[in-house]
Amino acid sequence: MPDVSARVLGIMGSPRLKGNTAELLEAVLAGARDEGAAVERLDLVRLKIDPCIECRKCDDLAECANETDEMSEIYSRIRNVDAIALASPIFFMGVTAQAKAMIDRCQSYWVERFVLKRRAYEGIERPRGLFVACAGSSKEIVFDPARHIVRAFFAAIDYEFIGEVLLGHTDDPELAPRKAVALEEARSMGVKLVRR
Ligand SMILES: Cc1cc2nc3c(=O)[nH]c(=O)nc-3n(C[C@H](O)[C@H](O)[C@H](O)COP(=O)(O)O)c2cc1C
Repeated sequence: MPDVSARVLGIMGSPRLKGNTAELLEAVLAGARDEGAAVERLDLVRLKIDPCIECRKCDDLAECANETDEMSEIYSRIRNVDAIALASPIFFMGVTAQAKAMIDRCQSYWVERFVLKRRAYEGIERPRGLFVACAGSSKEIVFDPARHIVRAFFAAIDYEFIGEVLLGHTDDPELAPRKAVALEEARSMGVKLVRR
């Protein structure tokens, strides 16, 4: 049975809004939409998100003190959606600067969960998290540092990490058949994000 009430947020970390990462994220969202979910995509490159300055003001109340930028667009959704697909290409072995700035600004959730030891979803199913990534390199290990970053992000916001859709060697002239497989996988993961 499709879960008609599910809300799925796609967070787009690539500055290239029509690249391979975007196509994979769109396939995830299409899969979720086909399951009846309400789907939304936020492009981080269009939002003003300041980097964390480690002011430590979130240490006491688990709330970020910076209310001057557009991180509120993310904060307002994190506790109000049922799933997030975070998409980023690999830049210098990690996620993009746009994605990392957003993740670092989630330190307040890390404080909430690991310092104040408050669980956001006591007794109910946690929202689900998925990582979508592309890389130029054909080496599988190119995704490893970003995998750790993204798992730490989902742990901090208290989501259940359900997996990843990865497409390597994007500069391969023979990319098309592998990309078609990855797009199918992305669509299936979109369904999995929603089905309970
Ligand atoms: C600044 C920058 C750094 C990059 N660093 C890496 C890297 O460390 N490893 C890698 O495999 N590809 C790297 N790439 C290549 C991208 O990951 C690759 O082109 C990817 O397909 C881009 O995603 P897109 O098609 O969504 O734009 C880098 C690209 C840029 C622009």
